[in-house]
Amino acid sequence: MTDKPTNPGPRPAEADPETQYAWLAKALLWHNHLYYEAAEPEISDADYDRLMRDLEALEAEHPELQTPDSPTLRVGAGLRSDLAKVDHRVPMLSIENAMNEEEARVWFKRLADDAGDVELICEPKYDGLSCELVYEHGKLKVASTRGDGKTGEEVTPNVKTIKSVPTKLKGEFPDRLEVRGEVYIEKQAFAELNERLEQEGAKTYVNPRNTASGSLRQLDPRKSAARPLSAVWYQVANPEDAGLTSQSEAIEAMRGWGFVTSKDLLNDSPLQVKTLHGGDSVIELFNTYAEKRHSLPFEIDGMVVKVNDFAMQAELGVRSKSPRYLLAMKFPPEERETTCEKIEVQVGRTGAVTPVCVMTPVPVGGVTVTHASLHNADEIERLGIREGDRILVHRAGDVIPKVLRVVKSVGKQDFKFPTHCPRCESELIKLEDEVVIRCPNHLGCPAQVTGAIAHFASRTAMNIEGLAEKNIEQLLDAKLITDTASLYDLNDKRDQMVALERWGERKADKLIEEIDKSRTPTLAKFIYALGIRNVGETVAGLIANEVGSIEGLLAATAEQLNEVDGVGPIIAESVTKFLHDEHNHELIERLSKHVTPQEVKKLAAGEGKFAGMTFVFTGALTRFTRDEAEGLVRERGGKASSSVSKKTSYVIAGEKAGSKLKKANDLGVKVITEDDYAEML
Ligand code: IVH
Repeated sequence: MTDKPTNPGPRPAEADPETQYAWLAKALLWHNHLYYEAAEPEISDADYDRLMRDLEALEAEHPELQTPDSPTLRVGAGLRSDLAKVDHRVPMLSIENAMNEEEARVWFKRLADDAGDVELICEPKYDGLSCELVYEHGKLKVASTRGDGKTGEEVTPNVKTIKSVPTKLKGEFPDRLEVRGEVYIEKQAFAELNERLEQEGAKTYVNPRNTASGSLRQLDPRKSAARPLSAVWYQVANPEDAGLTSQSEAIEAMRGWGFVTSKDLLNDSPLQVKTLHGGDSVIELFNTYAEKRHSLPFEIDGMVVKVNDFAMQAELGVRSKSPRYLLAMKFPPEERETTCEKIEVQVGRTGAVTPVCVMTPVPVGGVTVTHASLHNADEIERLGIREGDRILVHRAGDVIPKVLRVVKSVGKQDFKFPTHCPRCESELIKLEDEVVIRCPNHLGCPAQVTGAIAHFASRTAMNIEGLAEKNIEQLLDAKLITDTASLYDLNDKRDQMVALERWGERKADKLIEEIDKSRTPTLAKFIYALGIRNVGETVAGLIANEVGSIEGLLAATAEQLNEVDGVGPIIAESVTKFLHDEHNHELIERLSKHVTPQEVKKLAAGEGKFAGMTFVFTGALTRFTRDEAEGLVRERGGKASSSVSKKTSYVIAGEKAGSKLKKANDLGVKVITEDDYAEML
């Protein structure tokens, strides 16, 4: 099993124990690889846990089958071969899981038998990537991932980019200190990162945990720095060196040294770190956790119960790979079975044709799910899904409904991807560099026209209330509108609107009023409202700052946009392609007769706090990404340059600054720290 992991293929249905064992071991290795090395898991945690439990059950029944390198004996990840290795002085173990109340009760019973009534301390189980920090004489020496529990990967420069990691300890500390915790990404930051990636046309991430893992295990710390990583610290691995006798003391000590702990994170939330006695009270707290978990800004996948007293922990000891004094109570998987009633094909506002599974409505994690995107033909084939099949559904990242797999294949007919648009019957096309299939009829396809108008009117764009898709379709059908610009002629068509089915005077007047209110948007919202591919809200703001007006937008060149921080060549090309389209150009001109975006105040040459100054950033920054830091210079009228000369006003030197720092010193250019720079701002 030390071979390179490969896809195990479908699970053999009714096989002898040896065959089953071989398949399970292979499957677990494969999914470990996808999870830890590729950072692109294919199955849910719950499915992974199921496979692991099947293997454990099989090993319990047939101990002779267990190999020394069985996945049940391994802790965690494979290692990235190109990161340096770090041995953990104290192995990083895993925690025994209880998947339901019954299993938790078995654990509490065993604990009571072994240790009597002991104090238990409960904390969130963070859904991130575990990490160890080693401090010598108060200074951060090495940071590493868990790896296989014995040996991890060195990620010191990357961890230093996380704001909440102290590089120097406060107060009194032992000569050597080993602290462990979890690196993660907050839900909001994850959503924003994905939004940015989507706008840039880059691949988005599956969930915050994989993003954290992928981001921390980068060779280039600048890439880690560009990711919104957070960290929380929950364990002192060498408590005896610090004279600590319990977990509650360890938490207070860590706080004193400058670490963020569960206590700090939960401060303002309905959940708190609690010390309790007995299974009943712990289970009660766990139920509160399950209820309130979504109110936390980060993801947790359960609650960790720890015997508080370290002497008692030592007495209880460690089993094969997990300590007896710890229990992870996991939340039940929010996955439900239902039926795929239909596979529908939808046409989006950009013409992208997407297959969608319409299912028997099913509650998942507090929300009723009725539809889930099947993305493309490849995904349909991968799932092997057909109309009528029983399917398993969850909400990816707790939000987006997703079909995980077919649990019972009932349907007879394979899904056939249409060759023509279901809305306008144009022949569908597939562009060479894209996976999506598109309807090319941008101006005539009713689905695309409706989508474009709905996007234009949406809250974050022109914010015109009362233009739900149904209403837009009615207005289009009655030929009262044809495109976004024609919305502004609706005040001449009040009577026809009033006469529409289910409309009437109030609805018509309200819409006219709403449209009227939208005539002076910010330029950023106007640009966003145009629905240019790859231009989301943030990018629209950057472009607005650059072009300043509608006229400026129409005259913008790809070279000019490419120069804007945060706008790459793909976006620049997408914008100019859109503007050069005769129809779009004409549409914007027509819109500009009705809509007057607010003026954008651009700094004139010589204006701003940093006017006439040039800044060079070098080394790894920890408080800003390089782009942010340079953007802040430009916003203040200064220049950001990549090379140091006599004309450079300031060099901002981060960690591991190299030749530029030397050159600055040689030339006598003023060198400041990142903190000094932040102060200047
Ligand atoms: S204590 C023996 N406390 O869960 C490990 N671990 O599934 C003792 N985890 O490897 C660690 N939240 O990465 C501890 N509050 C918490 C935790 C926590 C998440 C992780 C940890 C561990 C994994 C086991």
